Amino acid sequence: MLENKKNVDTAFLGQPRGLSTLFFTEMWERFSYYGMRAILLFYMYYAVSKGGLGFDQGTAASIMSIYGSLVYMSSVVGGWLSDRVWGSRRTVFIGGVFIMFGHIALSVPFGAPALFVSIALIVIGTGLLKPNVSEMVGGLYSSTDKRRDAGFSMFVFGINLGAAVAPWAVPFAANGFGFHAFGNEMNFHVGFSLAAIGMFLGLIQYYFGGKKYLSKESLYPQDPIEKENMRPIIIWTTVGVVALLVIIALLGVTGNLNVSNIIWIITIIAIALPIFYFVMMLSSKKVTKIEHSRVWAYVPLFIAAAIFWAIEESGSVVLALFAANRTVLHIGGWHFAAANFQTLNPLFIMILTPFFVWLWSNWRNQPSAPGKFSVGLMFAGASYLFMALPGIINGTAGRVSPWWLIGSWFIVEIAEMLISPIGLSVTTKLAPKAFQSQMMSMWFLADAAGQAVNAQIVKFYSANTEVSYFLIIGLVSVAFGILLLFLVKPIHRLMDGVD
Ligand code: GLN
Ligand code: ALA
Repeated sequence: MLENKKNVDTAFLGQPRGLSTLFFTEMWERFSYYGMRAILLFYMYYAVSKGGLGFDQGTAASIMSIYGSLVYMSSVVGGWLSDRVWGSRRTVFIGGVFIMFGHIALSVPFGAPALFVSIALIVIGTGLLKPNVSEMVGGLYSSTDKRRDAGFSMFVFGINLGAAVAPWAVPFAANGFGFHAFGNEMNFHVGFSLAAIGMFLGLIQYYFGGKKYLSKESLYPQDPIEKENMRPIIIWTTVGVVALLVIIALLGVTGNLNVSNIIWIITIIAIALPIFYFVMMLSSKKVTKIEHSRVWAYVPLFIAAAIFWAIEESGSVVLALFAANRTVLHIGGWHFAAANFQTLNPLFIMILTPFFVWLWSNWRNQPSAPGKFSVGLMFAGASYLFMALPGIINGTAGRVSPWWLIGSWFIVEIAEMLISPIGLSVTTKLAPKAFQSQMMSMWFLADAAGQAVNAQIVKFYSANTEVSYFLIIGLVSVAFGILLLFLVKPIHRLMDGVD
């Protein structure tokens, strides 16, 4: 053991030097993503005279959600391309370039067309980058290396560091570097430029760091596709694309081609995709009997995850609207903007992580993954029920204390600690051998499905509907949490040895 130590790379805080490259790449990428999301909602619905696009609030909210859904849906394509065609190193770089150009598209004042170009570029780019940068973290460690979990925790810290700083930096830039009160007259394009610069910095250090510190294997696909297998894939992709174009053309000729119908189509795809994957895995001959039962165990966990992500991701949509329309934007003499609230989610994750790491390593009879999911859903629901209170107590006409939002985010982040890291790890453990990367994509598809449902329901959110909106969704989540509690034992049995 001792003599081996010399060869073990511990250059980055005891971790392999490559982790530093991946840490900063993902930190900057998340900085650009969450910085852009922090102001995008406002960019869409602010009046043109205030620097916005003048969409109505419901449409803007719906676009935010469907956009978030697409970003995670496309990880299916990114994972596949890296596994079978490009290898992860190149796929991540190409993804980063797409993302940077996506932000650049919003940096120029070309209105709604530029927005849709930007969405397309960032959806493709994130799909290429996100699943593969995480996969490369795993690739830094041999299967016996005990530092793996700690490495992933550091990586997640990088995600949240980028995500926490961006909602201060990007709105600040969009607001003329703080020279006037937020919301009077914005220069959103300057904010989006800062997001583009962040991604650019990430790319530079990824390019040079990657050359030095990432393995040569990451340059090649793990399971390169043979020519003969390429044919059915090209055929099915073409069929899919043509079918989609036909539907869009039909909507066009019947005069029904509008944003709302396109969002409907994407919602349906986001829900159909995981169903398709489950059917495929459950009917595949490559899946053994035990694996079959484990995939069944994953079904209720997937549904729970989708409900959780629906609530978590609504933070940049519904809670952002609550911040803008219903919240007093100062604590004492300290003034802030509605967009700044987006810092709370990653901030609470960074604060809560040490506690949960301690909890899981010291709690002997801790609940299994389904048990943690169940409590997680109850917390997620509670964060919404909590948000119903200000409306019930004070009515929905005026503004209320920012502590309501701060409290709600704190509660939902406890849920995130119970679901997000646990879900990632249980996903890898329940994955059938033949479908390992597809199962990883399933984890992102849970988020995509949740946000696709959001895209349909956020349209109904307003001050008038606020109390019932928070109450109904909160109760649904708590009810599923309770249902899951009763299912813990049977699910655990289906998991067959995994805990
Ligand atoms: N918020 C986390 C991120 O941005 C996790 C997202 C997810 O797992 N769906 O990386
Ligand atoms: N909650 C978002 C993700 O973990 C920022 O990390």
